[in-house]
Formats: sequence, structure tokens, C-alpha cells
Amino acid sequence: MQFSDRTAIVTGAAHGIGLAIAQRLQSEGVRLVLGDIDSDKLKGAVETFSGGSDVIGVAADLSSSGGADQLVREAITAFGKVDILVNNAGGGVIRPTLQHTEETIRATLDRNLWTVLNCTLAVLPHMIERGYGRIVNIGAESVRNGLYMHAVYNAAKGGVHGLTTGLAREFAGNGITVNTVAPGSTKTAAVEALMNRLEHAAARADGADQPTGTVGEMIMGIPAAEILEVERQTLALIPVGRHGTVEEIASAATYLASDESAFVTGQVLSVNGGSSML
Ligand SMILES: NC(=O)c1ccc[n+]([C@@H]2O[C@H](COP(=O)([O-])OP(=O)(O)OC[C@H]3O[C@@H](n4cnc5c(N)ncnc54)[C@H](O)[C@@H]3O)[C@@H](O)[C@H]2O)c1
Repeated sequence: MQFSDRTAIVTGAAHGIGLAIAQRLQSEGVRLVLGDIDSDKLKGAVETFSGGSDVIGVAADLSSSGGADQLVREAITAFGKVDILVNNAGGGVIRPTLQHTEETIRATLDRNLWTVLNCTLAVLPHMIERGYGRIVNIGAESVRNGLYMHAVYNAAKGGVHGLTTGLAREFAGNGITVNTVAPGSTKTAAVEALMNRLEHAAARADGADQPTGTVGEMIMGIPAAEILEVERQTLALIPVGRHGTVEEIASAATYLASDESAFVTGQVLSVNGGSSML
């Protein structure tokens, strides 16, 4: 990959896919600003990077414009510029549509669409002024394959896919590319731990496990057996026959963030084991 003296913001980088993207970018020599709402996990993530001085963390709620402005401001203060924005913060509130409430719908849109809008709007004037930018959004394969229990999440991620094409056209003349990586089901450590707990719960007669924590919040109140059914349906859709890895998503995001992807813009790149094609 080609990166000439670049600085990147990666949102939602405290763990999972975001942290894997940050690690891959750092291995390519990119300076990093990690943004996340979870300050404890973010601190732990920053500490995993060796050589520390080229990596900072900014704890902020990026679903507010104030949080996004703070992230971009601190990045420019620390490193003088921002070349790359990876809009990875997100996460679903996964449940049957009629079990959503106004609160869970707003939470889904806040996490997955407003974080992207706010960070993009905060960084664009700076990128325009410098005549260079790479914006890489993390969307979702479920927008294309209509995965069970994902309708509201898809409304938010579909917004991200749509934003990609419009921004790409509008800012192509400013040296800025805008693309989206759409992951299929990806086994982060958190997802794997949750699935193990659910399998134990479903094996018990009541099957009534109520997981807690970041991933657990997304499916609170949904019986373990139903979530495992979504998992089964997801795998059945993937010709390659397995979930993706965080490194596979990071690899695609890194290409789109690199200097050498200059002629690629307005694209949604599925990294999905073939669960939708074309
Ligand atoms: N894991 C999958 O199977 C999968 C599939 C398709 C798409 N995705 C998307 O990929 C991205 C990363 O996925 P993951 O599984 O690593 O997710 P995750 O939930 O483990 O991590 C998301 C990160 O975003 C942060 N975040 C959420 N809201 C925020 C806010 N308002 N401000 C700042 N930070 C915020 C969280 O604290 C968390 O660290 C997400 O956008 C997710 O929707 C994941």
C-alpha cells in the first residue's frame, strides 16, 4: 500500500473492526487518531500501539456535532492535518422491526448514520482546503441481502451507502474520494464471546440469557434461540461458508484509504464471502 506522510482518523476504534483497521494503517506508517465514545476501552486500545507518540485517542460521542468537531480539532492540533477519515463507529440494534421502539430506532440512526454525517461534515472543509482526502465508510452487507432482524439497521447503513455516492460526485474535483466497505458477518472478539454465551443459554431449558455489554445491548430482550437462528441464516447465505475476519475488512479499508486508490470513488465494496454478488 502507498501512504505518503498520512494522518488518519478512525472512529469506533476502541476494539473490533475499527481497531483492526487502525492497526493495519499503523503498520503502513500512518499516524493515527482513534475516536470512540467508550473512553476506558479507547485508552486500552491506544496502549496496544507500540511507539505511542504517533497514536492518540479522543473520547467523544460522535453522534453529536460537538463530539465530531472536537475529534477533528484535536487531530489537527496533534498532527497538523487529516488526510484520511475512516467512519467505522456504529453497531446495530438488531431485533424484529415491530419490537423496535422510538428509542432503539433513534439509537440505531445515531450510532450508524449521524456519526458518519457529523465526522464527514467536520473534516470536509479541512480536506477541501488541502485538496486531498480519503473518506472510507463502513456500511453493511445486510443492506444488500436484507438480513433478518436488520431492517432498521439497514435504514441507517443504507443512508451511509447513499451518502457515499453523493459525496463522491460532489467532492471529486477537490481531490477527495469517498467509498464504503460493506462487511458481511464478521467475527469480532465481542461477537464471538456473545455467540458462545447464547449457545450456552439456548442449550438450557429456559434459553433466557440476557447478555450485557456493548454487543448485548443491541439484542437485549431477544431470546437466545432467535439470535442464534439469525446467525444460522447469515452463515447459510455465505458461499465461502464462514464469517469474515476483522483483518479482511481492514485490508479492504486500507486499500481505499491509500494514495493508490485515487481513481476509485463512489463505490460500495462488499467483503462478504459472496453472500451477495455484483
Ligand atoms: N461485526 C459485524 O459482523 C459487522 C457487519 C457489518 C457491519 N459492521 C459495522 O462495522 C463497524 C464496526 O463493527 P464492530 O463489530 O467492530 O462493532 P462494535 O460494536 O464492536 O464497535 C463499534 C464501535 O463504535 C463505537 N461507537 C458507537 N457509537 C458511537 C458514538 N456515538 N460515538 C463514538 N463511538 C461510537 C463503539 O463504542 C464501539 O467501540 C460498525 O459500523 C458495524 O455496524 C459490523
